Amino acid sequence: MTTVTTARRITAEDITIEVLKRFESTPNPRLRELMMGIVKHLHAFARDVDLTEQEWFAGIEFLTAVGQKCSENRQEFILLSDTLGLSILVDLMSHHVAGSATETTVIGPFYRPGAPELPAGGNMSESDPTGMPLLISGQVTDPAGAPIAGAVLDCWQAASSGLYDSQIGDGDELGMRGVYRTDANGRYLMRTTKPKWYPIPTDGPVGDMIRATNRHPYRPGHVHFKISAPGYETLVTHIFDSTSDYLDSDTVFAVKPALIVNFDVHQTQDDTAKRLGVPAPFATGEYNFVLTPSK
Ligand code: BEZ
Ligand code: FE
Repeated sequence: MTTVTTARRITAEDITIEVLKRFESTPNPRLRELMMGIVKHLHAFARDVDLTEQEWFAGIEFLTAVGQKCSENRQEFILLSDTLGLSILVDLMSHHVAGSATETTVIGPFYRPGAPELPAGGNMSESDPTGMPLLISGQVTDPAGAPIAGAVLDCWQAASSGLYDSQIGDGDELGMRGVYRTDANGRYLMRTTKPKWYPIPTDGPVGDMIRATNRHPYRPGHVHFKISAPGYETLVTHIFDSTSDYLDSDTVFAVKPALIVNFDVHQTQDDTAKRLGVPAPFATGEYNFVLTPSK
């Protein structure tokens, strides 16, 4: 007995239209736009490169490995997004930095909440005793230059070994992180070690991709900041050492010229270094952050 069916033979030419139709009645208009957009672009990609079944399956295996590499202390998907330039594209589209507001950049995979609160000049780099001490100071203001008192600066950085705390041992111990607050004049003072350039983690599938494509895995030396204050948009950014290698070829494309800073090296202690017990040689840097009022 033959079954009567209205099913049509779908071809490589009309499959995209067929799939798009299935998403047409998505109730949430933004979800509809996102789903239809991703279908259109994925299908266009497959057509463009004439994707084979083996390549499609290798892609599935790669994404599976990316997911399997993720854990409490490891975010391989952010690393993938960063190395594909997707994170910085979204950053650039999301933050049209108006006037004097500080430039944003990617958050990266190493942010962790819960860093210890430190007083002005408190040392967030006790776990990096061999690094050169670095004092960074400056002011947090609004776009008109008015100081913002009580702004919270959540800071994190790789040690001079090039490793973040989550890459050391079982990764549970917090290190090279500190939360500082601005004083009544909007000023902050943090103590860390001079950051060095380092490779992103390459022991996972993203590392395999970096090697297979003959890219280097390095990032220039930098310190991360997440700065918040009531009434202002939270600013996620880094500042970069102007003497570092890889400023021109950051593997995650996150360098913006306005975020490059001189860290001056001093051979003898000044008054602040003496007061804080910072031994020479040490470095200092100055950076003022301008927050954007929330909409
Ligand atoms: C980082 O500097 O934390 C970082 C950012 C993006 C990818 C890998 C590392
Ligand atoms: Fe970093």
